[in-house]
Amino acid sequence: MTAIAYEKVKASLVASPKTWLITGVAGFIGSNLLEELLLLNQKVVGLDNFATGFQHNLDEVQGLVSAEQWQGFTFIEGDIRELADCEQACAGVDYVLHQAALGSVPRSIANPIATNETNISGFLNMLVAARDANVLSFTYAASSSTYGDHPALPKVEDAIGKPLSPYAVTKYVNELYADVFASTYGFKTIGLRYFNIFGKRQAPDGAYAAVIPKWTAAMIAGDKVFINGDGDTSRDFNFIENAVQANILAAMASEEAKNQVYNVAVGGRTTLNTLFTALKDNLAMNGVSYRQAPVYRDFRAGDVRHSQADISKIKNALGYEPQFEIVAGIKKAMPWYVSFLQNRLALDKLC
Ligand SMILES: NC(=O)c1ccc[n+]([C@@H]2O[C@H](COP(=O)([O-])OP(=O)(O)OC[C@H]3O[C@@H](n4cnc5c(N)ncnc54)[C@H](O)[C@@H]3O)[C@@H](O)[C@H]2O)c1
Repeated sequence: MTAIAYEKVKASLVASPKTWLITGVAGFIGSNLLEELLLLNQKVVGLDNFATGFQHNLDEVQGLVSAEQWQGFTFIEGDIRELADCEQACAGVDYVLHQAALGSVPRSIANPIATNETNISGFLNMLVAARDANVLSFTYAASSSTYGDHPALPKVEDAIGKPLSPYAVTKYVNELYADVFASTYGFKTIGLRYFNIFGKRQAPDGAYAAVIPKWTAAMIAGDKVFINGDGDTSRDFNFIENAVQANILAAMASEEAKNQVYNVAVGGRTTLNTLFTALKDNLAMNGVSYRQAPVYRDFRAGDVRHSQADISKIKNALGYEPQFEIVAGIKKAMPWYVSFLQNRLALDKLC
């Protein structure tokens, strides 16, 4: 099914370009938003402190757009924990896509103070700066972790449980602040509760990498793949291009659709065991064969057992139509991972 609403919104942006702010622009989701907006000839301001983002993500986007489109991008190396940086970034901006945060449940368990400072104090700075700059809309990265221990499946926006990690607390507090800014200052925002987004430029390294890039990197390197728990843990994996669509639709939403949170997912459910096989099969199609069995170990603290979204709210209110199921998304992402990771392995061998 084509994304009719999205095609209309994109056409209107091309006809009448706007100025956007993407925080966390050097990260995975931020850099994919940057690519799409520059390809639509928009002006983009990007803010990042490179805490978990990379210059090479920005360089890659530069290589994918025209020189003229790249001229439309202004980068500010700054920190959302500094109000002055947020104010500078918001000046003259029409639409804010706030992505900057410290992601990862285990990172937040290891260092809840750092996660709190960026994800809550930084978020509040961004709300204040964007409100004072009179931006037209403010869309922020919320999280499916807000569903916490609520047992119902699929997840519907109104039914949340208790948070299971410091990270989940911070993302829930974002929603509370967003709601209070609507009632107190009339500043209405949209929160997008992402469910396990994956795709190109998602970092494969480190203890806090997400499962798809982490396992893909391990398979390409011929290393062991560890599954936390019995492998029946499930997630609603969502390809990055669907998340980009959700952000741009949310930014352009009507007033009635604002002061809301929306699930951003596909509405499917894939177990870790199925994911392991899908990644292995896709790597084989890209010339990489992985013959090892996964290694099962303990469940990880703070992890939700099952996650699957009901996406009817975002479909009805914003016209969101995900264009990629998980298998199609993996197929599209895999050549990038193979090229990125094999280049890096070759460089490592040279060093
Ligand atoms: N990827 C997912 O599946 C997923 C799921 C739910 C929510 N989210 C949320 O989406 C957003 C983007 O996630 P991502 O996967 O692209 O992660 P990412 O780590 O690739 O990107 C985050 C970016 O924010 C930047 N950043 C961090 N702290 C900052 C600070 N203090 N000031 C300025 N910039 C800062 C980082 O350097 C990085 O470039 C985050 O808010 C994350 O919590 C992501």
